[in-house]
Amino acid sequence: MIKIWKDLFSDNIGDFEGYTIGKMLKYIKEPDIISFAPGMPSPDTFPKEMIRKASDAILRENLEGVFQYTSIPGEDSLIESVIDFLKTDDINIKKENILITNSGQHGIDITGRLFLNPGDSVLIDRPTFSGAIVAFQMERPQFIGINIEDDGSNIDGFREKIKELKKGDNPLPKFIYVVPDFQNPAGITMKLQKREILLDLSYKYNIPIVEDSPYRALRYCGDSIPSIFSLDQKRDGMNVIGLYTFSKIFAPGVRLGFNIGHPRVVEKMINIKEANVLNSPKWNQDLCTFFLKNTNLKEYFRKNQDYYRKKLEITITSLDKYLGKFDNVSWTKPEGGFFLWITLPKKINTMEFFYKAVEEERVAFVPGEVFYGENPEKNHLRLNFSYPKEEELKEGIKRLGNCLKKHL
Ligand SMILES: Cc1ncc(COP(=O)(O)O)c(C=O)c1O
Repeated sequence: MIKIWKDLFSDNIGDFEGYTIGKMLKYIKEPDIISFAPGMPSPDTFPKEMIRKASDAILRENLEGVFQYTSIPGEDSLIESVIDFLKTDDINIKKENILITNSGQHGIDITGRLFLNPGDSVLIDRPTFSGAIVAFQMERPQFIGINIEDDGSNIDGFREKIKELKKGDNPLPKFIYVVPDFQNPAGITMKLQKREILLDLSYKYNIPIVEDSPYRALRYCGDSIPSIFSLDQKRDGMNVIGLYTFSKIFAPGVRLGFNIGHPRVVEKMINIKEANVLNSPKWNQDLCTFFLKNTNLKEYFRKNQDYYRKKLEITITSLDKYLGKFDNVSWTKPEGGFFLWITLPKKINTMEFFYKAVEEERVAFVPGEVFYGENPEKNHLRLNFSYPKEEELKEGIKRLGNCLKKHL
């Protein structure tokens, strides 16, 4: 019988102890805890009637086909619907530019597998999406993080890093990973000028940009800014790989998304999908096709934006009321998405503060340190406002204030 399994595990996975947020979610299941931790959409926004109608139609029309293996790049009907959907966001692509994935996380994982060898570097924001860090970590790259600014990624910082690497004759980063719209975790949006300068940088040094866009349709105020992908199309380029998911705009349970990019990139991504999940469930793909084809998307997004805007306003008002009185406590003011980022005085370690908040005040959040590729800052936390009910938002932030008062 094998006694020491660890010696047999691969170098890639041996030291990896799981996704911190996943472990924390298990710890905070008790019903009296108000949790700002997960990044879930509110089920109030799920198009339930449409899901019932679509399910009936799919089973009635194609019960056998829907449980078969299907095409690896994705169902033609879904691909066509996504192409039409992207046109409304000024993105014009063809079938050879798209791969249906089994969620945004899968799209990120495929991207890491495609580009990274152990020791390669990736340019990221500090902080950035923890799911991307863990997915890329499987390939054991080096993360080069640059502190994000109020108006998005620090592009000058990216440029300086690239120049520094070039000067030392070091290999350049394999790609730059950004979440330009309502970033997870900070809620920050990259301004237009920075998107253009980031593209300049990508062209100058031949470094692809990976633009992760789960929240683009969820803007609650201010004007929409063109995606980096669409700006790149104006230059006739294809330096950008776009990652999308149905999780935040439809329902995370369908576990579907799509990656878009240069045909050669998509072709290789299809090869990777062949080797890992093979295909995406047809049932789920048909649901998403039905959603895209039979929903007045403008109206649907407007309704969801109104719903989340109210929650964001309650969150900001409650933060002003309960945390506004503390020195050196601040938070970002997102214009969309699901999250905002709270900075506490340097002496507070939010991982330790998390356990105090849960045990003493029954309120939870995600400690900021999980959102850094290296050398984490310890005095931030991520607060999700999409899932808690309005009353919970007020009460939870009050509890957070009580806990801060005790420990500052
Ligand atoms: C920036 C970002 N990318 C990707 C994902 C993953 O989405 P999915 O639930 O489809 O795997 C998330 C989910 O929170 C996210 O915030």
